[in-house]
Formats: sequence, structure tokens, C-alpha cells
Amino acid sequence: MQNDIKEILFTEEEIAEKVKELGQQISKDYSGENLTVVGILKGSNIFMGDLIRKIDIPLSIDFMVVSSYGQSTESSGVVKVLKDLEYSIEGKNILIVEDIIDTGLTLDYLKENLLRRKPKSLKICTLLDKPARRKVDLKVDYIGFEIPDAFIVGYGIDYAERYRNLPYVAVLKEEVYQ
Ligand code: PRP
Ligand code: MN
Ligand code: MG
Repeated sequence: MQNDIKEILFTEEEIAEKVKELGQQISKDYSGENLTVVGILKGSNIFMGDLIRKIDIPLSIDFMVVSSYGQSTESSGVVKVLKDLEYSIEGKNILIVEDIIDTGLTLDYLKENLLRRKPKSLKICTLLDKPARRKVDLKVDYIGFEIPDAFIVGYGIDYAERYRNLPYVAVLKEEVYQ
């Protein structure tokens, strides 16, 4: 697995430090409010688990499973909802948690979809942001790191369902996906 890695972008320690900062900021911003954290699976799995343990206010969690990349390196642009939320979000403060925003198509779709359910507020938190590849205009409220336009894996992020279990965020060697 490590042989397929070109370069480590963020180590386990750097990620942990950033996740702690994000958790503290979110705790402050939502203090005294209700909060439902919505994880977008599968990619947000690891980040979500770490992030909510750094938020020290009462909260609920829920999940959606969506997919737009499948086995490919290119977004299909079509977001498939494989599993919807369990609970109604009407009147609730919703924080969407994503691992990475690339074209923005996944979140653009999800935002529309969730806003129709009339939450009190809707914000977005992503560990990684790749603005160079954006296809739609998207306001992102909490960003861990901005990253260059390279194919990223690890800490929940896959290529063809592999590498999610790497504890760091890394650039994949081109020959792996070419
Ligand atoms: C990846 C990633 C984001 C989305 C970002 O998910 O986890 O959800 O793509 O790309 P975009 O901004 O171009 O839409 P993917 O569809 O690969 O599903 P996964 O989370 O199960 O890996
Ligand atoms: Mn995803
Ligand atoms: Mg994926």
C-alpha cells in the first residue's frame, strides 16, 4: 500500500491538530444551540469519528451514503443516494461533514436536497478543499486544509475503494491510476 504513495501531504499528528482546532471552533459557534452532525459516507467516516470527539457540546449524528465517483478518478456528476438520513432535520442546525471537496458537485446536490427539508441552518465542514477543480460556486464554512490538484488518498479517502485506512493524507502515484 505504501509503495503506491508519492508523497505524504499531512501526517497523523498534523491532522489531529487541525481536527482539534475545528472541533473547538465548532463548539464555540454552536454553543447553546442544538446541533446535528451529518456525515457523508463513506469518505467522511474517519474524519467524522475524530471530529465529533473534539466537539464538547451536546449533539446528534446521522449519516447519508452517497457516491459520485465509484471506481473512477473522475466525478460522474451524478450523485447517487445509497442511504438517506434516518431522522427529519426540520428546524435543526445541520453541519455536513465531508472528507474532501473537489468539483463541489456532491455538496451542491446535497445542499439543495437538505435545504428542501427546512433545517434551521445548514453549514459545511470539510477536512480537505481542492478549489482548483471546482465546477460550482459553493460556500464552505469550515475547511481543514486547502490542497493542490493531485489525486489524494488516505484518512477515509479512497481510490477505487482502496487506501481509506491510511492514517495520513497522501498523493497517489500517477502510475497507480493511469
Ligand atoms: C468523494 C468524496 C466526496 C466527493 C467529492 O466521494 O468523499 O464525497 O467525492 O468530490 P466532488 O466535490 O467532485 O463531488 P465518492 O463519490 O468517491 O464516494 P465515497 O465517499 O464513498 O468515496
Ligand atoms: Mn464521499
Ligand atoms: Mg470515493
